[in-house]
Amino acid sequence: MDEKHGGFLHCFDQDGCRQAEKRRIQPGGGLKSVAGEFEERDLDELWKHSMGCAVAAQIISDKSGGVDRKTVLTAAILHDIGKVIMDLFFSREYAKTLTTVRNNGLSMAKAEENIMGFNHADAGGWFCDEIAFPSVLVSPISFHHNVDGVDKEHELITSIVHIADNLCKRAQIGDGGDDNKNHAINLHAQRLLNLNKDDLEKITGEESIYKSPTDMGVNRASAGIMDDKVIQVASHQEIIRRYFRCAVEYAMGLMDKDSVERAELIMEKVNAKVEDRRVVKPSRDAAVKANEEGKGNEGIFCGAAIELKDGTIITGKNSPLMHAASSLILNATKHLANLPEDMHLLPKNSIDSLTFLKKEVLTGKMISLDTEETLIVLGISAISNPAAQLAVEKLKELRNCEVHLTHIPTPGDEAGLRKLHVNLTCDPEFSTKSLFLRD
Ligand SMILES: [Fe+2]
Ligand SMILES: [Fe+2]
Repeated sequence: MDEKHGGFLHCFDQDGCRQAEKRRIQPGGGLKSVAGEFEERDLDELWKHSMGCAVAAQIISDKSGGVDRKTVLTAAILHDIGKVIMDLFFSREYAKTLTTVRNNGLSMAKAEENIMGFNHADAGGWFCDEIAFPSVLVSPISFHHNVDGVDKEHELITSIVHIADNLCKRAQIGDGGDDNKNHAINLHAQRLLNLNKDDLEKITGEESIYKSPTDMGVNRASAGIMDDKVIQVASHQEIIRRYFRCAVEYAMGLMDKDSVERAELIMEKVNAKVEDRRVVKPSRDAAVKANEEGKGNEGIFCGAAIELKDGTIITGKNSPLMHAASSLILNATKHLANLPEDMHLLPKNSIDSLTFLKKEVLTGKMISLDTEETLIVLGISAISNPAAQLAVEKLKELRNCEVHLTHIPTPGDEAGLRKLHVNLTCDPEFSTKSLFLRD
């Protein structure tokens, strides 16, 4: 049992039970006799909401099949039982929750989490589990606001209750405490039940707020925006990443000029510059430095840069032994593992052996190690070298980091970087002189 759960149930055992008992014995109290800060009207509205949810859930389950009708009905009626329980046992905090919902437009679940650290779905689930309800009822009660968290076995019934709950809120059938109509339907749940716009209209008996299936997706996305500033920054960065992708595809002959010009126009319109992507300039500077230091490989000077989770920028340059992306990944893992910059993680004899194989046996032109090869040699090196083992362990910290290369990656670099799950862009430049391009 987790700490929250234990703490919550403790209240049932002691003070909470005494408070509840006092209310329960009020003569002639009706519904109010089991309510804390909920007004009688609130309880009526919650009852209507629960009944509406039960009807909607039955319609959905008739369409989807695969679940017992009576079980769905029971789960839907009880899905918000946690609200009554929280109101009953934590009436002071719950009064604050109701005020927050009314004043700040938050959902009940969000306001409850902010104030009490758990929500009514958690409370309802814990309570029903404690009184030995079967898991087929506990799961939809616990996860009707978090379908992604439920186990596979109860995913269908939880999805039905989740969608029925949201449809009732949108159609304003009763009031679950928050009349915010913009509750987002979980996409996975909707797909699982194969519900389209017409189905939703039939269930609620009113025109859907969505104008088309595409509109359903767009509305859902906008409903999920909690912080507009964050979205603006992310959009700005995505526009730059897409511009680079267009420019590269055009350079490779995969896209027409019009598309690139459109991407440039969008960049202009939002006043975006490629340097707004933090990794672009450092990677270009690294390429210049490689040239100045006489490094590079056969007259080609490539640079690469990665932005780590803490904002640190690490760079890499190409050499006769290694591609820029390969040295970038090694440098980044050395930084994360606090290893000296000049430490060699890959054994020289392994590099020599691989180079011999590529050049002499396979008669390849490019013998320096690409990212995929580098990762393999690093993995082998980790067997006997603790520093390499440390570096290997740090590779997962590169996931979702931003990376820029001054040249189009080779297939081996692209495959290696894809496996690391970094967000990659590159300048539309080729890293070899051996090119054949159509007019
Ligand atoms: Fe709920
Ligand atoms: Fe609800």
